[in-house]
Amino acid sequence: MRYGVIGCGKMGFVILESLVSLFPNKHNSIFVSDIDQKKLSFIKKKFGIKITKSNFELTDVCDIIILSIKPQQMVEVLDEIKDGINKNKLIISIAAGIKLDFIKKIISKKVAIVRCMPNLPLKYGFGLTAFCANCYTSDKQKTFVKKLFFFQGQGYRNCRATNGFNNCNFRFWSCIYILCFRDYARNSTKVWV
Ligand SMILES: NC(=O)c1ccc[n+]([C@@H]2O[C@H](COP(=O)([O-])OP(=O)(O)OC[C@H]3O[C@@H](n4cnc5c(N)ncnc54)[C@H](OP(=O)(O)O)[C@@H]3O)[C@@H](O)[C@H]2O)c1
Repeated sequence: MRYGVIGCGKMGFVILESLVSLFPNKHNSIFVSDIDQKKLSFIKKKFGIKITKSNFELTDVCDIIILSIKPQQMVEVLDEIKDGINKNKLIISIAAGIKLDFIKKIISKKVAIVRCMPNLPLKYGFGLTAFCANCYTSDKQKTFVKKLFFFQGQGYRNCRATNGFNNCNFRFWSCIYILCFRDYARNSTKVWV
């Protein structure tokens, strides 16, 4: 299995740290691409993982592709990679406000897509990640997503609450944060909402 992260900014870096820790002996199976070549060289040195010349090359070689670019870069990147996607791959997006249907429409294929909404405290082991998956996503693929984000975080919720920042999921997130802090204050290790 090969894992690829497109966009190695703040969140991409944290996800790479998770991958490298989850698969300590498989650094050759972890790939990253970014528009910034200096960033890529630094990451290659730091983690000993593989860098690719383009987002398409990463998509072509990887089974699991994690999109960690800004929402405004999604159309351009999806257009670039869509021909490298087939039904055996898993696409994971963490872009805020980008719905599953939006991604599916551009890719135009029956492929597994998972939308996640992590937060930066993930870096410190205090993250919470909400996720939703489309109907082509297998249980095995969902388990991988949970493992990836649960590894560095305290809890997750398989939900449909990641469809944009509206009043409803503002309440959802407020609730999660309150529970998280309450749980932290009680010194337990997990938050299940
Ligand atoms: N930060 C958070 O707390 C947080 C929480 C949840 C979800 N998210 C989501 O996570 C995603 C990434 O956020 P971030 O804060 O990590 O952003 P970021 O630090 O700006 O990272 C994005 C990375 O993608 C690179 N990039 C730009 N265009 C690209 C292209 N065409 N191909 C490949 N790489 C490209 C950027 O390079 P340049 O810097 O050179 O443009 C940058 O390194 C966003 O969609 C955001 O909504 C963020």
